[in-house]
Amino acid sequence: MENTPPRRVEHHQTDRGYVPVYATGVVEQPWASYSRTDHDVWDTLYKRQRELLPGRACREFLAGVERFGLGDGGIPKFADLNKVLGKTTGWELVAVEGLLPDEVFFDHLANRRFPVSWWIRKPEQLDYLSEPDLFHDLFGHVPLLLNPIFADYMQAYGRGGMKAFGIGPEALMNLTRLYWYTVEFGLINTDEGMRIYGAGIVSSKGESIYCLDSPAPNRIGFGLERVMNTRYRIDTYQQTYFVIDSFEQLFDATRPDFTPIYAQLKQQTAHAAADVLVSDRVFNRGTREGFATDADT
Ligand code: PHE
Repeated sequence: MENTPPRRVEHHQTDRGYVPVYATGVVEQPWASYSRTDHDVWDTLYKRQRELLPGRACREFLAGVERFGLGDGGIPKFADLNKVLGKTTGWELVAVEGLLPDEVFFDHLANRRFPVSWWIRKPEQLDYLSEPDLFHDLFGHVPLLLNPIFADYMQAYGRGGMKAFGIGPEALMNLTRLYWYTVEFGLINTDEGMRIYGAGIVSSKGESIYCLDSPAPNRIGFGLERVMNTRYRIDTYQQTYFVIDSFEQLFDATRPDFTPIYAQLKQQTAHAAADVLVSDRVFNRGTREGFATDADT
């Protein structure tokens, strides 16, 4: 099967000037081309996280993993998962080559399409890689797309992204921080205790343990503007995790129009990733042990 590389957004000259042409970056999942090693990598990572996550990941996430049968053996076929998604929350997985331009990514989410990198990491990259692969995208992100509220949150985020893109780079940065501290690295407070829902955590063995067990990072109650104004780490475990009380809380807090919030935040300097503020609801004030001292993103 032939793989077409994703096209970037191109600008085409028309009579009215240059207009961006949205390329979707979507390819077909080249399922037949996965090697035995690729399938083994999936099985190994799956087994490791499946054993680790009960009692750590929230039950909505674990329920999604079971419902999809992600551990049936070998790399799942997106077409099979789409049958389940289609009849529950109406989301659709689309295979992509890797990270997409912001506006293309937002457009997919706004239309309930979730882009998943089709390729999987090599056996020597089980613990870390710097860009999202199939295991992160699929195991990390897709189970919660079966949760109706989270599914709606992701779509609303995509729509919000289109808007922020039109407002400017600072707005986009504020919105990206929200994604980072919720969708990627979010914790949730439940009756049974603090649990993980962030995809960047559940797809990482080390951070699945660290985020809940280590005294080093801060664990702070979620606040919309607090999060949107906080820098983050892209190369180490997080220095702060923000804790939501429920997916409803997250969805409700992000419902208002962000336009005035973007304008306000533009006047302020961002908090460092490790900061604790007097206004914070602190679950754990981190010891900062082992923290990188160079600047965060
Ligand atoms: N309410 C946000 C806005 O007006 C959109 C949004 C919703 C963003 C949910 C993120 C998550 O921009």
